[in-house]
Amino acid sequence: IQHAERQRILDALRLSQEQLLDVKRRMGEEMNRGLAKESHDQATVKMLPTFVRSMPDGTESGEFLALDLGGTNFRVLLVRVRRGKRRSVEMHNKIYSIPQEAMQGTGEEVNQVFTDSWPSCLRFPTNQNSGILLKWTKGFKATGCEGEDVVTLLKDAIYRREEFDLDVVAVVNDTVGTMMTCGYEDPLCEVGLIVGTGTNVCYMEEMQNMELLDGSEGKMCVNMEWGAFGDHGELDDFSTDFDKAVDEHSANPGKQTYEKMISGMYLGEIVRNILLEFTTKGLLFRGKLSERLKTRGIFETKFLSQIESDRLALRQVRSILQHLGLTSSTCDDSILVKEVCSVVACRAAQLCGAGLAAVVDKIRQNRNLPELKITVGVDGTLYKLHPHFSNFMHETVRDLAPQCKVTFIQSEDGSGKGAALITAVACRIRDAGQ
Ligand code: BG6
Ligand code: GLC
Repeated sequence: IQHAERQRILDALRLSQEQLLDVKRRMGEEMNRGLAKESHDQATVKMLPTFVRSMPDGTESGEFLALDLGGTNFRVLLVRVRRGKRRSVEMHNKIYSIPQEAMQGTGEEVNQVFTDSWPSCLRFPTNQNSGILLKWTKGFKATGCEGEDVVTLLKDAIYRREEFDLDVVAVVNDTVGTMMTCGYEDPLCEVGLIVGTGTNVCYMEEMQNMELLDGSEGKMCVNMEWGAFGDHGELDDFSTDFDKAVDEHSANPGKQTYEKMISGMYLGEIVRNILLEFTTKGLLFRGKLSERLKTRGIFETKFLSQIESDRLALRQVRSILQHLGLTSSTCDDSILVKEVCSVVACRAAQLCGAGLAAVVDKIRQNRNLPELKITVGVDGTLYKLHPHFSNFMHETVRDLAPQCKVTFIQSEDGSGKGAALITAVACRIRDAGQ
């Protein structure tokens, strides 16, 4: 009976192919709403134009400084782009961690981290006409930044230090940087995907479909900001009480619904909430609710990856739980915890795959092709480190978009390199016009 009860609870997190097709269909609709003039304001998926229209052609050169801000790390990169026979991109980088206090304090404190260490690459939604930060996501909530131009904030902070001045050429979302980095190697790469602390996608859209902009020639890269999909209820029938609990205690309740079901920042919390429910019902840890299990954030993304590693014996699963302070676990408990992790990660990968299927199918339809060959550049710790996430996701895309032959390549050097490449292209075009 206990087994049936546990499975009943987990079944709410298992999605059928029909449900996934529904997610794909709704994502497709939302993309169209975001692109169209009359519905853009109501759309959850904002489809932000990035003004990136050309890929690098190998004739770029120069030295660029790129700042890459996101989850817990802040990277500063010096990127040297060479052309001709020595065509290459060489990088030196330094990684700084961003203290929790700065993430949630004032904008001034975040800027302090920038200038103390040493934009081109930003991992938050910014309006690309300027560098206006639309909203914080992924646990950031520093005051005085939303609605502000991050380029001005940064330049002011640098100016106050009176040490040097710098020219900010591009503010780039991490998905765009990733697409560019991969596009430098593979010209079929027209989609950038991040599955890490947060999740998001960009892709090359036809100008004629971008009703918010003038002009109908060629293509432009669109930053979908797909993490906000579901914020108007589009995912309500798939969302569970565990998802609601995670959302309620997050830094941005009611926002980034899809992201909260997929990305690394939230999966561990979904798992913990399920384990809490199991324990309260006497189905786990002999019904003993420990203080530790009640503590938010104990399961980091790496925990999910570790626990699902195929090479791990149950004894080791148990020792991971013990290490986390969940000491009274039995062998059966370990099996169950592993199953919970796998159900949550599988749902995340399938939801992500369903969204991506909508994207590649839209590109195929845009071009009126019976079959599309396309490459997706991917970055993010969940995608790269989880033992099964990528397989589940690839499989879902294959199932739901059978007319698209999708190749996935990992972005090896982070999106800072992509930001530098975009800057290099911008400088090349600017110099050619002078
Ligand atoms: C890094 C990129 O490699 O991956 C970042 O340089 C990107 O720009 C990041 O945002 C995403 O992964 P995570 O797991 O750090 O959020
Ligand atoms: C969040 C941000 C988005 C970013 C993504 C991946 O969703 O809003 O801009 O691309 O995380 O890091």
